[in-house]
Amino acid sequence: MGRPSARDRTPPCDHRADCTAVRLHLNEAPWGGPPAAIDAVRDAAARVHLYPAGDTRRAARVVADYFGVDRHQVVLTTGVDEATDLCLLGLGDLTTVTPGFNGFAARAAVLQRNVTMHNLDPGFTFPVELIDRARAGDLIMVANPNNPTANLFADDHLAALLDKGCFLLLDETYADFGHGGPGLQWIDRYERLLVFRSFSKSFGLGGLRLGALIGDERLIKRLRTTQPYYPVDRLAVEGLIAAIQNEPDFPARLAERMRPLRDRLIAVLRDSELFAHVLESDTNFVLALCEDASRAHEIQRLLADQTNIFVATTAQFGLDDGVRISVGPEESIECLSEALKAISNDIAGKVATV
Ligand SMILES: Cc1ncc(COP(=O)(O)O)c(C=O)c1O
Repeated sequence: MGRPSARDRTPPCDHRADCTAVRLHLNEAPWGGPPAAIDAVRDAAARVHLYPAGDTRRAARVVADYFGVDRHQVVLTTGVDEATDLCLLGLGDLTTVTPGFNGFAARAAVLQRNVTMHNLDPGFTFPVELIDRARAGDLIMVANPNNPTANLFADDHLAALLDKGCFLLLDETYADFGHGGPGLQWIDRYERLLVFRSFSKSFGLGGLRLGALIGDERLIKRLRTTQPYYPVDRLAVEGLIAAIQNEPDFPARLAERMRPLRDRLIAVLRDSELFAHVLESDTNFVLALCEDASRAHEIQRLLADQTNIFVATTAQFGLDDGVRISVGPEESIECLSEALKAISNDIAGKVATV
């Protein structure tokens, strides 16, 4: 079985999915980050003794220009976790959806906020019950497109929450990979809308831990009051400024290169006959549903143990029978294709193709 070239491998880091692994479990950018950002981070090392305050403000201005908003409408955060914390500390208890991104509820538990979960409606659409029960002042957080279901929610459903006077955080981390999300167009229309944009996925900067929380100027000012004095670090902000100024079309190019590979990945998963249903995707990952939870875990375990390919199961996102696979480089997908054939002999009773 072929392996991805060294160029396409991610450098060593955390747990078992090290440098020799095929990493299809964290939705990372498959071909590395913007070269201009990498150079800028190297260069910034000479200034590690300097606090980043002025550069953080400069980065916020660059980010605001990039997203077409005022600089007072933006706060840079250390990834989605800090953005979530600012919302929870400033606005109270959490309402969210399941299956859905688990990061919101995880932070709510740490900060001792109550969490109300609503099941998605059939077809993984937005829960109408949540809209019916929502009250002005409630804080609702959802990823749009959603993780792990890889779909966008209907604009009407999201707008209904804002029309009721709810605070709504739309996490648009995956928006650049598909049809986008409505968040940035709505910013000036709704005072209680917050949009989170991550630089981890579509800008390929996951290691820098940077995101932007965007919203009404007064709301952003209010949320900033709980932020640490120096929230993000110098290497991150200098890398981000270089990425946006020198390679603003990086997300568009990445999405374009990724799209045919996503089609190929969906075809590989369907052809394997190991899954009951493989969904279309508006993101840089694909959700495959299994017959049951034990099948999902078996596939994940066999891929990791026998072929060193790492994919994610989705129980942590409230979906027991799912396997979530990131769109990797060509070689990784072909590797996966071979690996699925190899492990299918070990899996009793394959399902009929859907
Ligand atoms: C919906 C969603 N938001 C945010 C993140 C992570 O964003 P960041 O790297 O900016 O913390 C992820 C990562 O998987 C995600 O799925």
